[in-house]
Amino acid sequence: MENNIPADIKDINLASEGKKRIEWAAREMPVLSQIQSRFAKEKPLKGVTIAGCLHVTTETANLAITLRDGGANVLLCASNPLSTQDDVAASLVADYGISTFAIKGENNDQYYDHINAVLDGKPNITMDDGADLVTAVLTSENPDLLSNIFGGCEETTTGVIRLKSLANEGRLKYPIIAVNDADTKHFFDNRYGTGQSTLDGITRATNMLWAGKTVVVAGYGWCGRGVASRATGMGSQVIVTEVDPIRALEAAMDGHRVMPMEHASKIADVIITLTGGLKAVDRSHFEVMKDGAVIANSGHFNVELDIDGLEEISNGKKEVRQYVEEYQLDDGRKIYLLGEGRLINLAAAEGHPSAVMDMSFANQALSSEYLAKNKADLKNEVYSVPHEIDAEVGRLKLEAMGIKIDALTKEQDHYLNSWNFGT
Ligand code: ADE
Repeated sequence: MENNIPADIKDINLASEGKKRIEWAAREMPVLSQIQSRFAKEKPLKGVTIAGCLHVTTETANLAITLRDGGANVLLCASNPLSTQDDVAASLVADYGISTFAIKGENNDQYYDHINAVLDGKPNITMDDGADLVTAVLTSENPDLLSNIFGGCEETTTGVIRLKSLANEGRLKYPIIAVNDADTKHFFDNRYGTGQSTLDGITRATNMLWAGKTVVVAGYGWCGRGVASRATGMGSQVIVTEVDPIRALEAAMDGHRVMPMEHASKIADVIITLTGGLKAVDRSHFEVMKDGAVIANSGHFNVELDIDGLEEISNGKKEVRQYVEEYQLDDGRKIYLLGEGRLINLAAAEGHPSAVMDMSFANQALSSEYLAKNKADLKNEVYSVPHEIDAEVGRLKLEAMGIKIDALTKEQDHYLNSWNFGT
């Protein structure tokens, strides 16, 4: 117990630093802050308990405060064992009265204990980043858990894939809104957020110079596109590996070299995985890497790297710098694995910048309100964020950035909605 509310955090004395950083992030989150002011007046989430399994960062803190101001009872746990900002967790508990169960570096057992702790709060809405919370609910032997829940929101690509697969098997037991799929989320957060924060994490971990490096980007979804474009901007030569022919073609026409990982792994200075899949870099790739190759993952789970395979071909390893593990191979080569293969942007840096999380979390807040209002009409399916919410987030962000755009004249609108011009 901290501050008389249930919590498990590293150190409550970190709260004052956390509060300063939460307030600093809020300056860059004008859309969320407008929603917060409205929520504080209208209380659309009154009486609703929300359990969030999210990266516990300054941006997530601002989301949690917005939901709380909207009348919700909010509980938070981490969606990755390495992504928690301990000062933020402390401030959430001490300054904002939000039950938080998250400690940076927690082990697997603690990670699941913390998930169970937020579920003990009997949530009505689950808010996930990777679908671990919803999976815990659906595999729980406690039937009361499900009976309290009327909906959920999912933040990330990997989570949406898992949830759609549950829905296809008829095993999804409550409606979920796929926040990731909103245009104002993945076009910006996945691309510019992951692009910048991945390079930030690798830079903080290694202090390496990007200019002149051969950087292999595995996966050319929105996250991969962002990383490839930012690495190019820093002067790296980017090679993309893909399994999807259309994405591979896009990467080639965006100006990147495209080749199989089998070849790319031999010439890479840095390899970054963002495929959302399994073993994009496997033992056979580790076997042929150059001495000194740096390997990082920025996809949701660390299974993108075959770390067991790397362990098998290594005769020793040591931490040579925070977040940098040196693996020694029999022939004397060294391979550097960053952040245990966990999301490098959150493990070694602060995740996506607040200005982009502003839009992602505005979608989360408005989607929770939507669930609360429409719970009676929703089925056990994965839903898109309603277009009006997505468009409103885009409009508010433009306004906050002081950008004005044109509107169609009546004549232009008529033209675009007619088939019989020019005939
Ligand atoms: N995911 C990526 N970056 C994040 C951040 N800064 N806060 C919460 N979730 C994130």
